[in-house]
Amino acid sequence: MSLPMVAATRYVLPLREGGSLPAVVEGNDLGTYVIKFRGAGQGPKALVAEVIVGELFRRLGLRVPELKLIELDPAIGKSEPDFEIQELLIRSAGLNLAVDFLPGSFGYDATFSPGAKLRAEVLWLDAFTANVDRSWRNPNLLVWHKELWMIDHGAALYFHHSWMPAERFATLPFDYHDHVFADSASDVLAAVDEPLAARITPQLLTEVIALVPGEWLTEGDRERYLEYLLARLANRSAWVPGGTA
Ligand SMILES: Nc1ncnc2c1ncn2[C@@H]1O[C@H](COP(=O)(O)OP(=O)(O)OP(=O)(O)O)[C@@H](O)[C@H]1O
Ligand SMILES: [Mg+2]
Repeated sequence: MSLPMVAATRYVLPLREGGSLPAVVEGNDLGTYVIKFRGAGQGPKALVAEVIVGELFRRLGLRVPELKLIELDPAIGKSEPDFEIQELLIRSAGLNLAVDFLPGSFGYDATFSPGAKLRAEVLWLDAFTANVDRSWRNPNLLVWHKELWMIDHGAALYFHHSWMPAERFATLPFDYHDHVFADSASDVLAAVDEPLAARITPQLLTEVIALVPGEWLTEGDRERYLEYLLARLANRSAWVPGGTA
């Protein structure tokens, strides 16, 4: 199993609201994608987190736009006048992440009400993966075809920037007071904690970790991601929102 592969053929426009300066590009399959650049601020680790966390959400039945790997030739942006964009394209030559573009989607707001179970599942999964990027100010949720879609998981799994000890990550509390679904914390233990935890098997985690291309990793990383996530799964009382810790 691996992510599908495409090549970028046209730089359409930059998405300036994104801190990492993602862009809309066209692929050689004529698809339209949001490209997340390997050469952006947090480097390839942000893309690793996008793949592991996005694909975990997907396998647990939550909606994430399809992810592909995209080959970038910086020459496609040669008519872009912006120096910052030119630099980013050059630094990102080669393999990047493509997120299927959802045309006509809009940013989640109070006009849309996701069900109680879905809200609690998103909160639980963000706590499990230590995703700090789902606040009211910046929820990284899109509404498309009357459904809620989860995007932008590049800030999750932040333990990998310093590889803190696995035991520390295992019990790291999750501060959810700023989370867009913080008020669903009381539903988490009752409705989603047990069922979600039961579905996250070592095989499932191994499968999503295997989707990360080797060139974004260093030796032993896949084993480390598995070890850290399994350790955290085994210590839910320390971080489950609304839990006892
Ligand atoms: N698949 C998509 N379809 C449509 N629009 C998208 C998609 N992905 C991202 N966007 C739009 O682009 C914006 C920036 O994308 P994203 O949040 O992934 O970038 P980022 O640089 O990681 O952002 P942040 O500033 O939150 O760190 C989103 O808020 C959304 O408006
Ligand atoms: Mg974002």
